[in-house]
Amino acid sequence: MTANDHIPEHVAIIMDGNGRWARKRALPRHAGHRSGVGSVRQAVEAAGKHGVKVLTLFAFSSENWSRPREEVSKLMGLFVEALQREVDDLHRNNVRLEFIGARERLQANLVEKIASAEEQTSSNTGLRLMVAVAYGGRWDIAQAAKRLAGRAVDGQISVDDINDAAVARELQLGDLPDPDLLIRTGGERRISNFLLWHLAYSELYFCDTLWPDFGAEQFDAALDFFAQRQRRYGHTAEQIEAVSS
Ligand code: IPE
Ligand code: IPE
Ligand code: MG
Repeated sequence: MTANDHIPEHVAIIMDGNGRWARKRALPRHAGHRSGVGSVRQAVEAAGKHGVKVLTLFAFSSENWSRPREEVSKLMGLFVEALQREVDDLHRNNVRLEFIGARERLQANLVEKIASAEEQTSSNTGLRLMVAVAYGGRWDIAQAAKRLAGRAVDGQISVDDINDAAVARELQLGDLPDPDLLIRTGGERRISNFLLWHLAYSELYFCDTLWPDFGAEQFDAALDFFAQRQRRYGHTAEQIEAVSS
C-alpha cells in the first residue's frame, strides 16, 4: 500500500506510444491516438482516487506541428471530439479542466471548446486537470522572459526583481506546485521539451507500456515507485532523516 503522505501532489505525464500501439495492430496512427483517450480517462480516475491534486498531461508538443498534416488535423479533430464528449463527466466529478500552450496556434473551433470547458469547470474544487496542447518548455520560458522584460522596460519592475520566483510566476503553470512525479510511457527516456523549468526536482518514472495500454494498474506502479524515493533537494540523506524522524 502506498502511504498517504507519499502521494504526489502533482503528477505530469508524457503520453507517448500511440503510433507504435497502432502499428503493432496494423492500424493507422490515428487509431492509437483514439485509443489513448481511454487511457486519459483512466489516469484522471486513478489520480482522483489517490488524492492527487494536479494532473498535467502532454497531449501535443510545439514540435508535433512537424508531423504529417493529416495526422495533425486528425489529432485536432480528436481533441474537439473528446472535449465535447468528456467535459460533462469531468464536471460531474468536480474536475477543473484547463489548457496550457500556444492557444493562438489552434483552430478556432478547438479554442472555443477549450474556453467553454474551462468556463464550465472553473468553480470545481476537485482534481485540477491541465492539458498541454501546442506546448513547449522552451516556448513557456521564453514567454515568461518576454513578459518580464516588457515590464522592466515599462519601469513596472526593476531588473533586480527578476529571480527564480518571478520567472516561475510567469510560466504557464504559475500558481501550481511543480510536478512531484513525471511519468513517460512508450519506452523513451527523454523530456521532449515538456515542462523544462518545472521538472527541476521531479522524480522521473519511465515505463515501456504504450500509452493506450496504460491503465489504473500502471498508474499505481508509478505511485509505488514514487513512494520509495527520498527527495533530498541537494541535502544529505542524514539531514532529511533528521527532519522526518
Ligand atoms: C504520443 O504518441 C501522442 C502524441 C505525440 C500526439 P505518438 O504519436 O508519439 O506515438 P509513437 O511515439 O509514434 O508510438
Ligand atoms: C512527446 O512525444 C510529446 C507528447 C507526448 C505530446 P513525442 O513522440 O513527440 O516525442 P519524441 O519526438 O519521440 O521526442
Ligand atoms: Mg512518440
